[in-house]
Amino acid sequence: MPKLNIESREQRIAQADQEMHQLLDGYEKLSKTKRIRRPLDLDDYKWDQARSELTHPTVIDFLRFTFQVEIPSDLYAKPILEAADREGLTSLRRFIENIWLPEEKGHGPLLGHAALAYGTISKEEYNKDVTEIPKLDFPIGRGYSVGMVVMYGETQELGTKLSYRAMRENTQDPLLIAVLTDLEAQEMFHKGGYREFRKRIATGDDVVQTIRGFLFPGYITSPKFQRQSSGWAKELGFDWGTMNHDLATGILEQAGYSGLGRVVSSEIIRNGFPKPVKKVLSLSDRINNPVLNYLAGRVATRVTQVKVA
Ligand SMILES: [Fe+2]
Ligand SMILES: [Fe+2]
Repeated sequence: MPKLNIESREQRIAQADQEMHQLLDGYEKLSKTKRIRRPLDLDDYKWDQARSELTHPTVIDFLRFTFQVEIPSDLYAKPILEAADREGLTSLRRFIENIWLPEEKGHGPLLGHAALAYGTISKEEYNKDVTEIPKLDFPIGRGYSVGMVVMYGETQELGTKLSYRAMRENTQDPLLIAVLTDLEAQEMFHKGGYREFRKRIATGDDVVQTIRGFLFPGYITSPKFQRQSSGWAKELGFDWGTMNHDLATGILEQAGYSGLGRVVSSEIIRNGFPKPVKKVLSLSDRINNPVLNYLAGRVATRVTQVKVA
């Protein structure tokens, strides 16, 4: 639940900033002694050992899509850094510059090399994507508050992590398993980082607005693949149960039952709900009545198996 004992937004952000710097100090100290993390390196993988016959064809289709989505990490960082600077959340700039961005910058080339190794793109297509995609106009997140950018980040990382997991579970090729396992671990860590920010700074409205307007970045980088992706995800057994459970948990923490009820029929969260439940929930969402929203939030909590403390 939001920390109601902290009076103003400025105070809440100042306190969150201090706590997040402490967390990052601890993390950086640990990573120096134990070398627990570093950006992924293309040279760590044996690209000539790719065996596409051990992989579900849809996973191979997914490689070019995820490659395209992962290329323009600077475009994704921009609205986050702008929000951090505007609202004085220096720890968010530190997280993005020191951890998130260096790791994300490795993901595009890694997936691109996988797409090349499994023959789903040519070298010319690889070069074209790497040159053209960062030039796109990327409006998602522009003007968002810090609470909104971190909620967006957490949701996006959750979806990405589960996509890599679904892909990994549909291949027996050791090379691709290694690539996808490493990617999934980094996305999981990013999700955890955004979650720590979200718990401290996001208001109920930040969360509701972000989820209602949520668009995956693939709608900008690769609209055709993005539209195909829910079919692909279904073929690979994407874990909507975990997606909905984790999302609903975060929304409930920041926005309570009525906030959850207001967003529950949004595209990002309604997938995986049984059809009759989906119908009832979308009705309550359209009517937007506080009592109905509250009840819809209660139902969604039950359906997504969120444990309420
Ligand atoms: Fe990534
Ligand atoms: Fe990530």
